[in-house]
Amino acid sequence: MPGLKLASLGPLRQFRLPVFMKPRPSALLFRSAMLASSLLVCSNSVAEPSFKTPVSYDDADQRAGELLAKMTTAEKLQIITGHNSFYIHGFPRLGIPDLYMSDATQGVHIRKNLSNGLDKSTAFPCPISLASTWNPNLAYHYARSVGEECRAGDVAFLLGPGMNIYRVAQCGRNFEYFGEDPFLAARMIERYVTGVLDSGTIPTLKHFVANNTDFHRRTSNSVVDERTLHEIYLPAFKAGVDAGAMAVMTSYNQLGGEWCGQSKYVITDLLRGELGYKWLVMTDWWSVWDAEKIIHSGQDLEMPGEKFLAADADRLLQEGKVNLAEIERMARAIIRTCIAMGLYDRPVKDTYFLQKFPEHEQHALQTAREGIVLLKNDGILPLAKTGADKILVTGLFVDALARGGGSADVEGYDIVTLHDALRATYGDRVEFVKDPTDEQLKSAQTVFLSTGTFDSEGWDRPFALPDAEEQRVVRTVSLNPRTVVIVNAGGGIRMTGWNDRAAAVLYAWYPGQVGNRAVAEILCGDTNPSAKLPISIEREFADSPAHDYLPAGESLYVGWEPDNDMSHRVYKNEYKEGVFVGYRWYEARKIAPLYPFGHGLSYTTFNYKDISVTPGTVAQGSRITVDITITNTGKVAGAEIAQVYVHPVSAPLARPEKELKGFAKVALAPGETRSVTVRLTTKDFAYWDIAQHAWIAAPGDYELLVGPASDQIVLKTKVTLR
Ligand code: BGC
Repeated sequence: MPGLKLASLGPLRQFRLPVFMKPRPSALLFRSAMLASSLLVCSNSVAEPSFKTPVSYDDADQRAGELLAKMTTAEKLQIITGHNSFYIHGFPRLGIPDLYMSDATQGVHIRKNLSNGLDKSTAFPCPISLASTWNPNLAYHYARSVGEECRAGDVAFLLGPGMNIYRVAQCGRNFEYFGEDPFLAARMIERYVTGVLDSGTIPTLKHFVANNTDFHRRTSNSVVDERTLHEIYLPAFKAGVDAGAMAVMTSYNQLGGEWCGQSKYVITDLLRGELGYKWLVMTDWWSVWDAEKIIHSGQDLEMPGEKFLAADADRLLQEGKVNLAEIERMARAIIRTCIAMGLYDRPVKDTYFLQKFPEHEQHALQTAREGIVLLKNDGILPLAKTGADKILVTGLFVDALARGGGSADVEGYDIVTLHDALRATYGDRVEFVKDPTDEQLKSAQTVFLSTGTFDSEGWDRPFALPDAEEQRVVRTVSLNPRTVVIVNAGGGIRMTGWNDRAAAVLYAWYPGQVGNRAVAEILCGDTNPSAKLPISIEREFADSPAHDYLPAGESLYVGWEPDNDMSHRVYKNEYKEGVFVGYRWYEARKIAPLYPFGHGLSYTTFNYKDISVTPGTVAQGSRITVDITITNTGKVAGAEIAQVYVHPVSAPLARPEKELKGFAKVALAPGETRSVTVRLTTKDFAYWDIAQHAWIAAPGDYELLVGPASDQIVLKTKVTLR
């Protein structure tokens, strides 16, 4: 298994969290031979905001005030409504340019009818794949690449990252987000945001907030209690705000009975108040309905802009229902944000970045290498490149790249299909058979069966594969026990009907334009898989926390018409499970998912030992240091993601069994041992208290649980909080 490709863990200096490495003498023997040797440590306590705007907030505000003084009321009303679908209105006479916005998290969605800025853009693996890398450093490079392609294409605002928590497997947009755990999502998002900002592009945190289904999303009313909102649905946004994000997009859904884009509670109280956000807020496209409410809510910009503000704002002004100061506050927020990022002082477009596309493609490839999860392997993998036997390849997405749809769709270029990648790896041994006979399936030495789903914005998709597809998979694994199933999907799918009979299951998500190369590298062992699931995959949808979220009597649909249908009654989507989302739910209910959060296999083995914690008794607000030792006990180099969970031994209210509060990704040569230090603070023990509206860490004992997956805790220690 030559050439293990894990190099992107470094360089460490770009990852601004402290790193602690204590190599043991035995490990040094291997160090020089190990190019990929590196360590990333991730915890809550040490993240720091890393981006400084080129123009300070105060200077930008002053300049915004000066510009505003030169604008007519009509111009002020124009700038708060978008124009030409994806632009902020410019005013050449004032030196204010039109500014283009483009989707989104997994690359630049090119809209040729609107902007001729780019001929091509890199299709990255989808964000849930990025989350599966547990590598914030890679999130930075991925995002910076997307930001640089924005610069090459004259895009001032990237309409991403999306970061809504994975609550139901069926949500059509899970592929655009970062999984079920707020801590993991937050650590990835803060680096993503910094990456985009460092390119000179403004990232947009979306969709704020509690937009966790795409089923009739415009008429869905998320009913979420305060504690759940804070513990589960806000942390990734908070991390993005703290990292310096300069745009936020509100969501389609209502929160507690009001559409988020026109809700004062959501925008002024939560986002600007509690989260301390100070830059531009925009609506999602056609997601607000009442100009007066929009203006009073703290919203700045209605997109795409042809509706309510454009139609009614002037009249409301005349009637005295809103005042000019409110319109000016909106315009000023937009202008201030653009000035602070330098968007009025330099061209957005910079063709220099075109030459960086090959580098961007490398980051895309590396993300796929570290993001594809090996869920099951009875020993069939890795399957050596050379051999006399044939490999029968069949199924979906063999000759066409699997991608998510909707605004997040990125076409990519020089696409490597699964077929291309397998041919390049295994040569003529690969036989692609579209509809194999039973005999062909039975007699094949090995079968690679590709399956999956097409997920998209606008609707949710069933957890189970469509009947015909399910039957295809069941038939194949039944006829040939040497079947490797490769799954392309944007979230969990039902695998219960065939998982046990598959020889291996490789979860490739939507791998991006070159990600199938990584699939082939993993199949043949050139790359040792290291990804871990950022979600739990349940056995049956009925096992999952929000399985009954659809309104009574309604069923899933596909298509844009129902999505746009405002005659559909507003339905309550009650987050009855509270904070018990994902593994928090399965553990509390003692339901074993098919594959738990944090699970993912490697071709090597790791041993964990020597946990220690200092100090053993802590005061409120202090730091805690957890040390562990990890050894690669197998024969090949590999990376391990050690997960640190906190379990409150007793608690004044119902709390999850355990919660992720730190992790470390460590690359180890065979036989190599490393000490890893993860730091926590007592904030990591806290819950959101609804009486005090604050995080409270209750005095008492807390167990620190460490292991390679949420269901495999191999080390334990205890801390007492005074
Ligand atoms: C999506 C947003 C997207 C916007 C612009 C909306 O339908 O929900 O995520 O940024 O369109 O394309």
